[in-house]
Amino acid sequence: MKKFLVAVIAFSMSAAGLVQAADTPVYLDSSKSVEERVEDALSRLTLEEKIGLIHAQSKFSSRGVRRLGIPELWTSDGPHGIRSEVMWDEWRQAGWTNDSCVAFPALTCLAATWNPAMSELYGKSIGEEARYRNKNVLLGPGVNIYRTPLNGRNFEYMGEDPYLASRMVVPYIKGVQSNGVATCVKHYALNNQELNRHTTNAIVDDRTLYEIYLPAFKAAVHEGGTWSIMASYNLYKNQHVCHNQYLLNDILKGEWGYDGAVISDWGGTHDSIQPITNGLDLEFGTWTDGLKLGKKNAYDSYFLADPYLEAIKSGRVGTKELDDKVRRVLRLMFRTSMRPDRPFGSMCSPEHYDAARRIAGEGIVLLRNEGGLLPLNLSTPKKVLVVGENAVKMMTIGGGSSSLKAQHEISPLDGLRSAVGDKAEVKYVRGYVGDVSTDQDGVVSGQNLVDDRSAEELIAEAVMEAKDADYVIFVGGLNKSPHQDCEDSDRRGLGLPYGQDAVIEALAKANKNLVVVSVSGNAVAMPWVDEVPAVVQAWYLGSEAGNALADVLTGRVNPSGKLPFSFPVCLEDVAAHVMGEYPGVKRQNENIWDEKYNEGILVGYRWHDTKKIRPLFAFGHGLSYTDFEYGRLTADKKSMTGDETVTFEIPVTNTGKVAGAEVVQLYISDPKSSVMRPVKELKGFRKVYLNPGETKTVTFTVGRDALSYFDADRHEWVAEPGKFTAHAAAASDDIRSSVDFTLK
Ligand code: GLC
Repeated sequence: MKKFLVAVIAFSMSAAGLVQAADTPVYLDSSKSVEERVEDALSRLTLEEKIGLIHAQSKFSSRGVRRLGIPELWTSDGPHGIRSEVMWDEWRQAGWTNDSCVAFPALTCLAATWNPAMSELYGKSIGEEARYRNKNVLLGPGVNIYRTPLNGRNFEYMGEDPYLASRMVVPYIKGVQSNGVATCVKHYALNNQELNRHTTNAIVDDRTLYEIYLPAFKAAVHEGGTWSIMASYNLYKNQHVCHNQYLLNDILKGEWGYDGAVISDWGGTHDSIQPITNGLDLEFGTWTDGLKLGKKNAYDSYFLADPYLEAIKSGRVGTKELDDKVRRVLRLMFRTSMRPDRPFGSMCSPEHYDAARRIAGEGIVLLRNEGGLLPLNLSTPKKVLVVGENAVKMMTIGGGSSSLKAQHEISPLDGLRSAVGDKAEVKYVRGYVGDVSTDQDGVVSGQNLVDDRSAEELIAEAVMEAKDADYVIFVGGLNKSPHQDCEDSDRRGLGLPYGQDAVIEALAKANKNLVVVSVSGNAVAMPWVDEVPAVVQAWYLGSEAGNALADVLTGRVNPSGKLPFSFPVCLEDVAAHVMGEYPGVKRQNENIWDEKYNEGILVGYRWHDTKKIRPLFAFGHGLSYTDFEYGRLTADKKSMTGDETVTFEIPVTNTGKVAGAEVVQLYISDPKSSVMRPVKELKGFRKVYLNPGETKTVTFTVGRDALSYFDADRHEWVAEPGKFTAHAAAASDDIRSSVDFTLK
């Protein structure tokens, strides 16, 4: 009897998966560690199976091991939502009808919230959508630095400051990976423009590399624990970064000890030997430019496919590198597809739409609000005129690989109409005609934006309608078409396209209650800014765009966004264009463009501060419908040793009439240093929510790393003893209180 009972119990427990049956292979035994399972799986693989694991088998998937029951690995774009299914080997739509997603706001909007909690919410939500769609690797987020306002993909990234990008990328990664879905932080590294993105050889000094362009990736690895990294298209030290001794082997896997998988950008692999020796683990998209082209069914002829197998079999190369690659890919699988305790995800849920709307609302930046024109005063019936193509144009489609098939997208016009309901009559006129394209990769908007009227006719109509409106809201900016905010091309200038400036200037003359809303992922020139009382920076806000924008315009949400990058007055005020060699210099007889980052660490506000150039709107700038008063910044010690920390405190009071949130920024200056240093650098920020009359004390604790610069000769971070100054600020050009302290 006893034996029988034991057998029953053992069977029921193993059936419940509580304990593995005695003969369960280690790699399938979820009670074993990932490392044990990886080693066991590796020991069982044939040479062909190992090779099969390190390159793509389709546009977005790579092989598993059918014989062992290890599933194939599925990746998906993008950073703002889960891309719709494409054909096995093409960018064209697969024609599914259940793959519409929630489009979350662009990551520049997330950065503009300056709120790590929003980043965690974002990552968790988008990770749930990826999990539900059975994707193992999310191809994002992107954290390349905003070096030039012309970069077509700035809208996918987190601004100009490495500290802000570092703080905001970590929670996103944790949120996504809590679903058992890997992030693939991109594009590592120095892919800071789209023009010549496959052929630009970035020439950057080490100090600039370590202080500006690597920190967000290092934080993603060391604090975020990203399970994969996407190597970028460009070159560094004359090697394509997808197989780069310096960035991949020496820094990422060497100095940083990275244990995850390096995935090539699509079409970023260009050599038969370097991918073997220079740190590439998983080759995707070879022979495509990442957007189209591509050889049919070329997968067996990928550099890390048959050619590599052949080189091993002929004895030309060993298998040491192969086993390292396979370990990293298996580790990625055992953290995702082979992980038994993953949650199940969800898609298009009310929670995800709520998250999209909240993040958008917290990221919108109120740039200017003369006379408190905003929020709209709808206490009595009003006539509101909405002007501009971006009030109606779908923005979730286009822009390259981050393009989405959104389940819905509320336009600014629709959002405003549903928000003001019977309190206002909302009329719409086109104002200007920009981009009337309606699809990307076969995802179609269903809109018909064609309008053959001349610019003069459109302006005349807008001016005529504006004359007797109580408010005029112009919604313009950029869009996701080539040479706007779009992958694989940069903008050709800083100005608004499609003659928008003329429309805005005409409206400003016709009606003083003019609000300009710029929908964009980049700074734009605003020659009319002094004639326009209210200016709002509204990003690509995703599915809930119109609702979030209306929330802010009507005051349902008090704006609390701050700019994650500087708005220059003109390109001549931008370091990359004045000292840097953007877009690069073409080599004589080679299709390679060398680009010296001569501006070094002086990117964004670091440049504006040092050269005393006033930006149009500063990094960290953003207004509120209430006012905040800062008290005095104090330090808990006047001097500190290198292994101590110093804590700063500052009281902040909401002195206005409505509740709101303020982002208190902490900058550190090193006034006397043996090397050139920026006037100040962001080393802390806190978003604090305050009711009218409420005061809270904001504290920052910093250590020597906040005081250090990277000494390239010693190849280490150095904090020089001496005087430092901490500044509490509402923006990089709005310091409220400072305090000196000394590093002994
Ligand atoms: C694209 C992009 C990359 C994207 C990949 C797959 O070219 O550079 O961000 O994830 O290819 O679409």
